[in-house]
Amino acid sequence: MSLNPVIHRTPAELLRLARAILSATGSPPEQADDVAEALVGSNMAGHDSHGIQLLAGYIDGVRAGRVFPAEKPTLIKREKAMAILDGHWGWGQTSGRAGAKLAIELAAENGVGAVVVRNCHHIGRVGEYVELMAKAGMTGIALANVGPSVLAHGGTAKRLGTNPIAWAAPGGDPSRPLVLDIATSTIAGNKVALARARGVEEMAPGLFVDKHGEPTQSPTAYFDGGTLLPFYGHKGFGLGTMVEFLGGALSGSLPPEQLAIQYGNGTIFVAFNIGAFVPPETFRSQVDQFRNVMETMPPAKGFERVLAPGDPEADARLARAKSGIPVPEPTWNGLVEIAASLGLTPDGVAKQL
Ligand SMILES: NC(=O)c1ccc[n+]([C@@H]2O[C@H](COP(=O)([O-])OP(=O)(O)OC[C@H]3O[C@@H](n4cnc5c(N)ncnc54)[C@H](O)[C@@H]3O)[C@@H](O)[C@H]2O)c1
Repeated sequence: MSLNPVIHRTPAELLRLARAILSATGSPPEQADDVAEALVGSNMAGHDSHGIQLLAGYIDGVRAGRVFPAEKPTLIKREKAMAILDGHWGWGQTSGRAGAKLAIELAAENGVGAVVVRNCHHIGRVGEYVELMAKAGMTGIALANVGPSVLAHGGTAKRLGTNPIAWAAPGGDPSRPLVLDIATSTIAGNKVALARARGVEEMAPGLFVDKHGEPTQSPTAYFDGGTLLPFYGHKGFGLGTMVEFLGGALSGSLPPEQLAIQYGNGTIFVAFNIGAFVPPETFRSQVDQFRNVMETMPPAKGFERVLAPGDPEADARLARAKSGIPVPEPTWNGLVEIAASLGLTPDGVAKQL
């Protein structure tokens, strides 16, 4: 099996190209930065599924009128420790950053802050938003529902989205918070898209079924009407259901409306001001102790070391700062094509006429 070639680009090169494409399709500088930084930040964290490969689909969304790149979120309601934002189908990354920052602000005032965002386009890698909370010295969660692509456990139809859950907690080292950031399906759908772009013909078993409900490992069969499975059966399905109601129903983004929308994330951010509960230094040192136990524990057979949640992303950032970001050739060619259609070079510079 031969994989597609991979091209390495520096984060600065990808940021420049993404910003240029976003600006040329109507994003003001601030929104272009939000999206470009989030996408390249996902690549840096090792989640290429939510990196630059999403840009082509996002630009399709602009061209098809599913996303309005100049929109900014507005405040619908702010009362005590809660708030509601309307994203107006602007960029989800802009809404997501605003939602997480507002949750932090509310938690600073009240001990806890909960913000929902409705009419919110895809927010990308959900870990980004809880990392903002950890950076502010808080612990917090983010949940987002999304259009259906996951089989109901024991059922025959798609009912839930990949409905991700993210949580972060700060320790002493600001570059290494604990971060759990997972889809409630076996994997994120965009990981199947990444495998297809890389030319992978067979993924691990047990991730999804084909259009007939039969097990398959082929990304091509998945994109021909296949369905993801909830992770670990009833547990992923149960957690995905919880996300449907906390992220979806509370934000006003539950099906059937969401079924028609497909591209959005009904989102909730909840930040906890650690100091309102326990001394923050005690909490942070407990995180460090936990991390230390993981680091010094002998690994089981087949493992190089025991990782804490968030370690793979922190490791990827260090590695990719040196090696650059691997972009599958079909993904890169697609970006170059979009750039050309906008009169831009692959460096994100306007072509001389
Ligand atoms: N916006 C959306 O609609 C949406 C939907 C689904 C998923 N996503 C995103 O997709 C991305 C990938 O999701 P996924 O479920 O495929 O992720 P995944 O299976 O790669 O799991 C990632 C999480 O597991 C932790 N982890 C990985 N290996 C570990 C190990 N050996 N020990 C301890 N912890 C470990 C990581 O630190 C991270 O928290 C996430 O960033 C998620 O937010 C977004």
